[in-house]
Formats: sequence, structure tokens, C-alpha cells
Amino acid sequence: MSNICVIGMGYVGLVTGVCFADLGNTVNCLDIDHSRIEKLKKGVMPIYEPGLEEVVERNVKAKRLFFTTNYAQALKDAEFAFIAVGTPSGVNGEADLQYVRDVAESIAEEINHPITIVNKSTVPVGTGDWVADIIRKKRGKNALRFHLVSNPEFLREGTAISDFMNPDRVVLGSLNREAVESVATLYQPLRAPILITDLRTAEMIKYASNAFLATRVSFINEIANICEELGADVREVADGMGLDKRIGRTFLDAGLGWGGSCFPKDVKALAHMAILHGTHPQLLQAVMEINHNQRRRVVMRLRQALGGKLVDKVIGVLGLSFKPNTDDIREAPALEVIHLLENEGAEVQAYDPQAMENVAKELPEVKLCKNPYQVAEGADALVLTTEWNEFKQLDFKRIYSLMRTPILMDSRNQWDGNALREIGFTYFGIGQGNQVNNNKRD
Ligand SMILES: NC(=O)c1ccc[n+]([C@@H]2O[C@H](COP(=O)([O-])OP(=O)(O)OC[C@H]3O[C@@H](n4cnc5c(N)ncnc54)[C@H](O)[C@@H]3O)[C@@H](O)[C@H]2O)c1
Repeated sequence: MSNICVIGMGYVGLVTGVCFADLGNTVNCLDIDHSRIEKLKKGVMPIYEPGLEEVVERNVKAKRLFFTTNYAQALKDAEFAFIAVGTPSGVNGEADLQYVRDVAESIAEEINHPITIVNKSTVPVGTGDWVADIIRKKRGKNALRFHLVSNPEFLREGTAISDFMNPDRVVLGSLNREAVESVATLYQPLRAPILITDLRTAEMIKYASNAFLATRVSFINEIANICEELGADVREVADGMGLDKRIGRTFLDAGLGWGGSCFPKDVKALAHMAILHGTHPQLLQAVMEINHNQRRRVVMRLRQALGGKLVDKVIGVLGLSFKPNTDDIREAPALEVIHLLENEGAEVQAYDPQAMENVAKELPEVKLCKNPYQVAEGADALVLTTEWNEFKQLDFKRIYSLMRTPILMDSRNQWDGNALREIGFTYFGIGQGNQVNNNKRD
């Protein structure tokens, strides 16, 4: 069993620390955010992640999991220091590495024993070498014995614990074989394939993976838009494509496009890296453009359905987090739709099962409702923006009676359009051109 320090208690760091503790290691979890650490010490989760609280409680009780804001204390006996701080977008789309730099400097200041530093944050290719340089420069003559390993994280918010414990693969990159193998032993209990490569390749695997998944979603959204015009149904097109083993069905759901704390910033950062080094990331640019366009298309269709103007229209929005089962609203498609609606003079009322607290801070003007029925009250249209289970089987007759104009914009293709039309709604899905055409024929 090893002694591990995890730095940065966000979605990735907290899950990493908790899961390594659950595997029997002693884990010191560190964050500079005092309120976050105080909450964790009291057993209060600073983020919503299904199953997390229970694993934290179990490991704190077993005295394997500790929380602190003190670097010296967290690193005192650590054999491994995992970096899991944020790498948000900078002004030009580049990854902002200020938090990674701060951590590198703190490590250089606080450690006096050999250590393996493992980077889990998503960082531009070459960052591992840059972090090593920062530490060497900071230490000067008082050299620190350390090795750097890149270990990009692939977990998804909402299923983070199970993703960490059952990964498709673990990627480890380093120039030092011994260091990389010592990190591999931490993952051995998971019995997952472990890919060992060099530092830069590991860093690139993360960006390439996220960019590819974003590309699949933008691809099916482009197909959806063509389906709408030509009278085909993108849901069945995706099923038909997905049965081909070379293609597969995952990440082929047409909708509002991708968002969240990773895809948007990672695709941007990869494109930025490419341009900086003289290549032309045309595909990545198109993937981003299609994604923004999906949000605009939804608003355009609402405008058309409501007589050409959205001024003073009341639009109900169901779902605010960037995807179900998380409270994370970073780059949430719903928020972009809300901004577009507000820019056109609409009033927005909304509900989300977990993200309301975060939205109240960011968009105080949005009227937050207690449940989906309150969102429907007096609304001129209802938009499904995040496909929480709670929204899948609503009492639509009740919703019909509550709305001012019965228009449903199902931008996640979750509802049964035909049944809803029977109730009396005007229903729009994404890429459901066959239904639009059938309507035209009626
Ligand atoms: N969220 C995801 O689903 C996900 C998945 C895979 C990879 N990633 C990557 O993992 C990294 C972390 O993402 P996240 O979503 O967990 O971030 P987050 O913003 O939720 O959390 C980052 C934490 O780091 C802390 N921090 C900042 N500076 C610090 C410092 N100097 N010392 C100690 N703590 C510090 C912050 O207080 C915060 O609690 C990012 O690079 C992200 O791209 C995220």
C-alpha cells in the first residue's frame, strides 16, 4: 500500500483520492480552497457526484483518507503526488496553466524526499517537461529527486466513481520506466489495460480522445440537420450506423451539442496548440462551429414557432447542468441557449434537479422554479435541454393545461413526439425530419 497526496479537490482530484483510499492506500487530499476542505472534513460533499459521499465516509472512518489545506502536511510521507487542478481556457483558447504552475512551485518548496509526481490535469503537450523545469529552477542547487508521469484522466462526471474503478484503459507516460511502473502498480487492482508511453504522447492521447468524441457528436448533429430538411429520422440513422462494428453507437445522439468542463476547453486548446505550431486544425474548427450552431438552431426554431419574435415570450427550460447526474454548469448548452433567448428579449424560467445553486450565482436573472410543472406555468414554449431521468416521463396533460402556448422543443430527443402531438402540443425534436414531413402531408 502506498502513501499518496492528491492536489486539487475538484471532480477529478476528489474522486481520485477517494478511490485510491478505497483500494487501501493512505491518501492525503489537498486543496487551497479552505471552505471546500472544511466541508469535506465535516462529511459534506462540495460537488454532486452519485455514490461519492458513501465512499468518502467509509474511508475517513478507516483512517485512510485525510483532507487538508497544508502542503507540508499533505506531502510529508507521500511517495506519489497527483496533480488534479483545473486547466481552464485562457483568453485565446489556450489551456491556462496558472494552477499547475502554482502546484509545481509548492511541491518544489515543500518536498525534501524523492517523489513521483503524477499529472492528471489535462495539459498541453510538453507541460510535463515544463513542470519538471519549474521544479528544477525553483530548487536550484538543492536538487530534488523526482520523476514526472503523465496520467490523463478519462472519468465522466455523473459516473465518476465507477469510471475510475472500471476504466477502459489507464494511460501512463514518462521517460523513466521505473517511475511509470510504480504508478502502474497503483492501478493493478483495477485489472484494466495499462498503456505505457512517453510523456508527450500520453498528454496527446487525452486531447485526441476528447476531440474525437466531440467530433462524433458534431458529426451526428450535422447529419441531424440534413435529416430535418430531407425527411429522415436521425435516431434511426444513428442506430443503423451504430450497428456497424467499425462505427459503434456511442456518442451518436443528436441534440444540443457537447458542453461541460472538458470538451469545449480541450478542443479549443488542441486547436490552439495546432495553430501555434503551424498546422491548420480545420476539422476541429468545424466541430466547434457545428456545436455552437446547434444551440442557435434551437432558438431559431423557437422564434419561428412563436411568430418570428421572442420578445416578452416566456420560455421554460428543463435542465441546466451540462449533462444529467451532475451539478456542473461549466459551458452547459442550456446556459448558452438561455443567453441567446435573453438576448432576443425572452423571459426564462427554469428547473434542474441539482444545478440550481450554481445557476443562481451565475444567472441571477433567471427565474428558478421548484419543479418541471412550475416551469411550464404560463410558458410559451418548453425546452428540454438536459436529459435528467426526472424529465423523461412527465404528466404531459398537466403540462399542456399549464402552458400559455403548447410548444415543446425536445432538444435531447427524449420524448414521444407522436403521443405529444395527440395531446395537442406542437412538438419539435432534433433531426426528426420524417415527423416534420408527415405533419406537412397531414
Ligand atoms: N471534470 C471532469 O470530468 C474531468 C475529466 C477528465 C479530466 N479532467 C481534467 O482534470 C483537471 C481537473 O478538473 P476538475 O473538473 O476536477 O477541476 P475543478 O475545477 O473541479 O477542481 C480543481 C480544484 O483545484 C483546486 N486548486 C486550484 N489551485 C490549487 C493549488 N495551487 N493547490 C491545490 N489545489 C488547487 C481548486 O480549488 C479546485 O478545488 C482539469 O485539467 C480537467 O480538464 C476533468
